[in-house]
Amino acid sequence: MPERRPTVIHVDPERVDRDRLAPAVDALHGGDLVAFPTETVYGLGADALNPQAVGRIFEAKERPSGHPLIVHAAGEGEARAMAADWPSAASRLASAFWPGPLTLIVEKSDRIPDVVTGGLATVGLRVPDHPVALALLELAERPIAAPSANIHTRVSPTRAEHVRRGLGGRVAVIVDGGATDLGIESTVVRVDDDGPTILRPGMIPRSEIAEVAGGATGSPEDSADAGAPRASPGMADKHYAPVGRTRLIDRTEMREQIASAASDEAIGVLTVGEPPEAVEAGPVARVEVLSDDPGAYGEQLYAALHRLEEAGCDEIWIEVPPADERWEAIRDRLGRATG
Ligand code: TXA
Ligand code: MG
Repeated sequence: MPERRPTVIHVDPERVDRDRLAPAVDALHGGDLVAFPTETVYGLGADALNPQAVGRIFEAKERPSGHPLIVHAAGEGEARAMAADWPSAASRLASAFWPGPLTLIVEKSDRIPDVVTGGLATVGLRVPDHPVALALLELAERPIAAPSANIHTRVSPTRAEHVRRGLGGRVAVIVDGGATDLGIESTVVRVDDDGPTILRPGMIPRSEIAEVAGGATGSPEDSADAGAPRASPGMADKHYAPVGRTRLIDRTEMREQIASAASDEAIGVLTVGEPPEAVEAGPVARVEVLSDDPGAYGEQLYAALHRLEEAGCDEIWIEVPPADERWEAIRDRLGRATG
């Protein structure tokens, strides 16, 4: 794979200067990779209708070819054009949440090359709620296939700097639009005759999806027949994980374990709100104190994990987040990071 320096373009999301995006548009048209901000995380984009370009995404990410990509579109009309079928639940969810952090899994149109969906008959579609991403989609005048812009299984990027460090010369252009707002990847919902199924929780609460789609939202495990294909390939593996040993730990255990930790270990700690006193007194290399509000916590989480990784921690202890619905996506990602 050719390693060269990526071209970095700074675009202010508050005042998008479309002319500055020209090199990114040219790169997409030329079949090259462009990293760009969305409201969730940075995406690693390629022309979704160009199979060779899409192949480069898998190569750059070291991602197994069976893992389907999300196709980003400029609006609902453009997204629908990529679907063979548009159930009424898809229509309702799209009106309620697009542009926004929702990916709809529907039957794919023949226009989508098989490499995009890893051979599946369905495709994930999303209209991102980010002025830079939308400007890029409009200027490119084609759908953009984009997974999160990180090496497979690692922590997703919420800043351009994370992309540069993780993928560097494997991407032609990085569009830097600052830190992302939500910080946690989109809610992935399959809509078919059985109703909505949440394949990956995101920051839209499950109850809101159910209310809009009309019907309870199943989880893939509810319908997991023995031998049936996995609903969302790639979701079963370890994911979203920093380098180093990472584990979930509650406050009491954190206090006890710190007291008995060897002083030559570099322990990194991530807490929900103020850390227990023992942490400040113990042999801790780095403490990340995140908000006890799930929205603010989500926004900060991946940047904190990137910092703990950068600090070279041997072990990362993450405080178990609260049990309520608003924390579901965060619990899901931390479970995969430590699983
Ligand atoms: O917020 C996001 O969703 C970000 C930004 C860049 O849009 N993208 C992202 O993409 O997180 P990725 O590739 O890291 O995760 C895509 C998820 C995977 O869990 C994949 O299995 C699922 O969506 N997915 C995509 N297409 C699918 C399909 N046809 N059927 C089932 N699951 C699918
Ligand atoms: Mg990802």
